[in-house]
Amino acid sequence: MDLQIKGKKALMAGGSAGMGRATAERLAEAGAELFISARREERLVQAADEMSQKYGVTVTPIVADSSKEDGRQALFEACPDPDILAITIKPPNPNGDFLKLTPEQWRESIETALIGPIEIMRNYIPGMKTRGWGRIVNIATFSAKNPMIWRLMSGPARSALINYTAGVSREVAQYGITINNLLPGMFATEGASEIMGTYAEAFGLEPKPEVVREHFLANNKIPAGFVAQADDLAPMAALLCSPLSRFIVGQNIVIDGGQHYSLF
Ligand SMILES: NC(=O)c1ccc[n+]([C@@H]2O[C@H](COP(=O)([O-])OP(=O)(O)OC[C@H]3O[C@@H](n4cnc5c(N)ncnc54)[C@H](OP(=O)(O)O)[C@@H]3O)[C@@H](O)[C@H]2O)c1
Repeated sequence: MDLQIKGKKALMAGGSAGMGRATAERLAEAGAELFISARREERLVQAADEMSQKYGVTVTPIVADSSKEDGRQALFEACPDPDILAITIKPPNPNGDFLKLTPEQWRESIETALIGPIEIMRNYIPGMKTRGWGRIVNIATFSAKNPMIWRLMSGPARSALINYTAGVSREVAQYGITINNLLPGMFATEGASEIMGTYAEAFGLEPKPEVVREHFLANNKIPAGFVAQADDLAPMAALLCSPLSRFIVGQNIVIDGGQHYSLF
C-alpha cells in the first residue's frame, strides 16, 4: 500500500529506539523527509545514519529532551514545519507502594507524559492549519484506559492526554489535521528492558528478564499469547500519518494483543 507521504516532512519525537524507531522506519520507507529526536546522542545519530542509508531519504537527528522547555525549543528550531508529527516521551519508571509517591514524582510524570506532548502539538498545529494539512500521532499507553497500580506514573497523565486530544482533534479536523493516539500494551523494546529492574522492585522479584517476563505474563493475560515487538505497532502509526487516514479523528487505538477487555 502506498502511504502517499513521499516528500512530506515527518518528525518522530522519540525516534531512536523502540516503537518510535519502528514508526520512523515505516515513514522513511514510505519516502518521507525524516527528523528524529531523542535525549541520547550516540544511539540517535546511529539510528539516523542507518535509516538514511537503508531508505535513501534525509534523516536529521535532533538531540532534545521533549519533557523540558529548552529541549522542545531545540526541536522547534531544528524542525519548524513538519507535516507529520509522531510523539513518544518516556514517563517515570514503574512505581512501588502508591502511598510513597511524592508530589515531585507526580509533577515529573505530568511534565513528561502530559505537558511535553501538549506543548509539542501546540507549537506545530498553527503551521499545519495554515498549510491545510497535518497528521499527529501520540504513542502513549494502554494503561491510559486500563489502569495498573504499578504504572501510576504513566497511566493517569496519559488519560489526561487522551482527554485533551479528544477535544483538540475535533477542533482542528476542519483544517485537514487529524490527531489520534496509539495505546500500546506489553512490547519488548529497549525501553521495556530499561525499566525491568524497577518492575521487579515493585513486585519484590529477582531483576532477571525471564523472572520478570514470567511474572508479567502470569498476572496480565495476553490473549494473543505473546509480548509484541516494536513493529507490531509501527504499521498502524504509519497509516495514521498518511492521507489515507483522513476520516480517523480523535481515536485511541489499543494495541495490546487483546489484554484490555472492552467493547471500545
Ligand atoms: N514497551 C512497553 O511495553 C510499553 C507499554 C506501554 C506503553 N509504552 C509507552 O510507549 C512509548 C514508547 O515506549 P518504548 O518501549 O518504545 O520506549 P523506548 O524503547 O525507550 O524508546 C523511546 C524512544 O523515545 C526517546 N525518548 C524517551 N523519552 C524522551 C524524551 N523525554 N525526550 C526525547 N526523546 C525521548 C528514546 O530515546 P532517549 O531515551 O535517548 O531519549 C527512544 O528513542 C513510551 O511512552 C512508553 O511509556 C511502552
